[in-house]
Amino acid sequence: MEAVGGEHYHDRMIGMLEAIWGEGFLSPGGPDEVARLVAGTDFAGKSVLDIGCGAGGIDIALVRNHGAGYVCGIDVEDTVLAHARRLVERSGLTGRIGCLKVAPGPLPFPPDTFDIVFSKDSIVHIPDKHALMVEVFRVLKPDGRFVASDWLIGHDGAPSPRMAEYIAAEGLDFGMASPGRYREAMAAAGFDGIEVTSRNAWYREAARAELDRLKGPAGDAAAKLVGRDFVDENIGIWSRMIPVLDTGEHCPTHLKARKPG
Ligand SMILES: C[S@@+](CC[C@H](N)C(=O)[O-])C[C@H]1O[C@@H](n2cnc3c(N)ncnc32)[C@H](O)[C@@H]1O
Repeated sequence: MEAVGGEHYHDRMIGMLEAIWGEGFLSPGGPDEVARLVAGTDFAGKSVLDIGCGAGGIDIALVRNHGAGYVCGIDVEDTVLAHARRLVERSGLTGRIGCLKVAPGPLPFPPDTFDIVFSKDSIVHIPDKHALMVEVFRVLKPDGRFVASDWLIGHDGAPSPRMAEYIAAEGLDFGMASPGRYREAMAAAGFDGIEVTSRNAWYREAARAELDRLKGPAGDAAAKLVGRDFVDENIGIWSRMIPVLDTGEHCPTHLKARKPG
């Protein structure tokens, strides 16, 4: 899909993804998947950095549902940040959530700043996983936690023709890496307690339900907002995604690690 005005997550894209995943959510599973991801990590009162906060729904869920003390959401695009700021304002949580524009590259925070670095389905856009994990390690306090979900490729080889076709249809700057590359990047940065958990089985099913909704009334409602052509384009992307979920080549994954105390 084309970037518009240099942005991948332009208004039409946000409207489309929110129609599938809920207001403020630009990745699968909504608050339930956030709850599954954060299970086992205590967010109560903690300072959290959210890398790639998108339209802000997750930051609100981290505060409302999981008691995060303060969430600093960072993103590289203005349109998602404008959506996030509106949603945060409406939620009455401006004292607990900040949304900050950053440039790709080193994180603009001093060492030992956050209790938790969180990210959901955004690191896929950051090609150098090793450099990112060094930065995540640096900004975490000792005993701090990295809790993330991301879209991985199941292996280290070249994408299969089907996978290449899916990635091209997405038209995003997907820097997909394998579970092994993420594990290595976390270990090389100094993390311990590394956990890498495939979510492929869950999303394989969920994506089918999403496609059914796109082909039904949810797609019709979205078409009124973003245009029938854009809904049809997305139906095409979902139809290409499901086969590579079935083969395991596209594998959404939970990633967790701890900075030694
Ligand atoms: C699939 S969306 C996910 C947004 C949000 N985490 C969610 O799950 O709803 C990916 C987000 O990553 C952001 N992004 C891309 N490159 C980034 C970078 N280098 N640093 C921070 N965010 C980035 C995009 O602008 C987009 O908002």
